Amino acid sequence: MSHTTSIVKYYEDLADNYDNRFDNQRLEYMRSVENRVLLNSLKPGLILDIGCGTGEQTLFLAQKDYQVIGVDISGEMIRIAKDRVNNAGLNDKVSLILASAEALPFKDNCVDGLISIFGVYSHVPNINIAIQEIYRVLHNGSLAVITVVNRWNLTWWVKTILNAKGRWLLHALTNKEYTLNGLWTYYFSKSELSNMLKNNGFKVSIGCLLLLLYPHNNRKLYFYEKFFMRFEDKVRWLFPFNSLGYYHLAVFEKK
Ligand SMILES: C[S@@+](CC[C@H](N)C(=O)[O-])C[C@H]1O[C@@H](n2cnc3c(N)ncnc32)[C@H](O)[C@@H]1O
Repeated sequence: MSHTTSIVKYYEDLADNYDNRFDNQRLEYMRSVENRVLLNSLKPGLILDIGCGTGEQTLFLAQKDYQVIGVDISGEMIRIAKDRVNNAGLNDKVSLILASAEALPFKDNCVDGLISIFGVYSHVPNINIAIQEIYRVLHNGSLAVITVVNRWNLTWWVKTILNAKGRWLLHALTNKEYTLNGLWTYYFSKSELSNMLKNNGFKVSIGCLLLLLYPHNNRKLYFYEKFFMRFEDKVRWLFPFNSLGYYHLAVFEKK
């Protein structure tokens, strides 16, 4: 099975449980940061949401009066997003399309912004082609905001070292990709992501997301995690913290 086929299957199987599974206070914080950055970065107009999933950001932006086209490779995720859009009465603001980030079915220079949140481009095998597609569809001077999984994320490394998981540590030191339950994931270092975007013509800023918080921890927040959030808000775009989050938050402009 190719990476793409197994990624589609993974999300088709997960779709009905997706919104319950990714629901904890650390992710709520992550969503609040992402939403703030989206509103600060995006010009009014037409926005593409690549890997829109069940419509989290599509709905958020439509409620803020953007015109949004959600794109996803999974028909099941699109089906759920459509139900949510209908229920919210936002049909006039949103279109949803089954397509891949590697071949966007849009004309050149046709959108005012592009977003892709929660690691979508970490699951795109032909990443260079997908980045060229972002460049092609954006207007000059427009911004894209994406998050991808970081190879050097502090919380994973600390947790794995403390648990003495030698085999995983060795794998992560010698590989940039990993497949779990059929979900192929590529892990970017900050410099790799930054160079790839710059080489494709973008002006790039990269910040960290979930610096000291572990996204898969579903327990209630420990009191000190609120301080972690405040600290992260202060250092998000500063070296070396901007290299160490669980996710990279990249904001880049078509020059
Ligand atoms: C982790 S979910 C993110 C969904 C949403 N953006 C969010 O924040 O909840 C990743 C989504 O990317 C989609 N996806 C994966 N590869 C894709 C590709 N090549 N093109 C478009 N969508 C893709 C998956 O089907 C899934 O819905």
